[in-house]
Amino acid sequence: MAISVQIPELVVPAGGFAPAPPVPQPNIYPMEWRVETPKLAEIYERSKRTLYNPSDFPWDELRPEDFTPEQRIGIMYWYAVLANFDGSGPAVFAKATIHAFEQHTEDPIRKCFFSITRDEMNHEECCQRAIQKLIPGGPLDFTPTTDLERAAINNIQWLYHNGGRYWSGYSASLDKYPLSVLFTSFMMGEVASSTLFFGMSKKATHPVFKEIFRKVGQDEARHLAICLTILEKDWPGLSEEYKQLITRQLRAGFVFLSMILWEPPNQFWEIPDYFLPNHRVLVEHARRGGLGVLTYEEQADNWRLALARVRAIVEEWGIAFPAIPELDLDGVDVGDIGPEDIIPVF
Ligand SMILES: [Fe+2]
Ligand SMILES: [Fe+2]
Repeated sequence: MAISVQIPELVVPAGGFAPAPPVPQPNIYPMEWRVETPKLAEIYERSKRTLYNPSDFPWDELRPEDFTPEQRIGIMYWYAVLANFDGSGPAVFAKATIHAFEQHTEDPIRKCFFSITRDEMNHEECCQRAIQKLIPGGPLDFTPTTDLERAAINNIQWLYHNGGRYWSGYSASLDKYPLSVLFTSFMMGEVASSTLFFGMSKKATHPVFKEIFRKVGQDEARHLAICLTILEKDWPGLSEEYKQLITRQLRAGFVFLSMILWEPPNQFWEIPDYFLPNHRVLVEHARRGGLGVLTYEEQADNWRLALARVRAIVEEWGIAFPAIPELDLDGVDVGDIGPEDIIPVF
């Protein structure tokens, strides 16, 4: 039996519709879906189509018994160092996504940020799975029985102490800097990470690590494309003051990211004297385990190449590159870098 439902009568107030109060800003309301950069919408579509599931990697082929105890600790340690960066990714980009909503950026920017958040969650899951497969309870919640294990735990604790130092600085930076400054830091992180994972996917001899680095590297290359597309739009018309701020941010990015791409420089990092020698021992064990960690010299060359790429990109927009004497790169001296300068990215 058909039921006939009558549409109730529309109310049109005699004095006209009452305007709703304006929404105090910054606020995620009112809702709208403005598109200014179709290329970003395309990248977002691509990110949805190329999504993968880290649980589907052949984790069974990562057998702890195939490694020496030292290699297991070394690889666990390297992934714990990586987690200082990739593990902060979901929270960093989730905050940036909310910020983009509050700033009413065009819709594809918000969606691209969300996709980076999603990808970073996959990357941190890779850290988690690799660590827990080799050292259950790792990186910090296992009982060390050797000096190497004690050294690894201690270094990781110092590393996470430093990770914790920049978090509040980052939270404040979202309201302090315009998006173009934030994106420059993000861009630097994506250049660094795509370079790192591309190099390691070539060098890793263990098939599981090779495959993880290949997939994660593809994500990082897409993140880089997102940042570059946004910057092409935002950089024209950048004030001199912001250009100088970006130069400083680039140096901060070098100081911060060198911990995973190379070795930490003598700035920002609060670490005991034995940190670096022990770091070298642990990373060497990881290298021998087939993880694909480049040698010190290869890392330096790789980092130099990545920075040359960043330099070429920023100089095109009249932004000076900072001096990086650690890698014999000349440029502007930006002085000391502290935790408030660090915008964590990867
Ligand atoms: Fe990542
Ligand atoms: Fe990334």
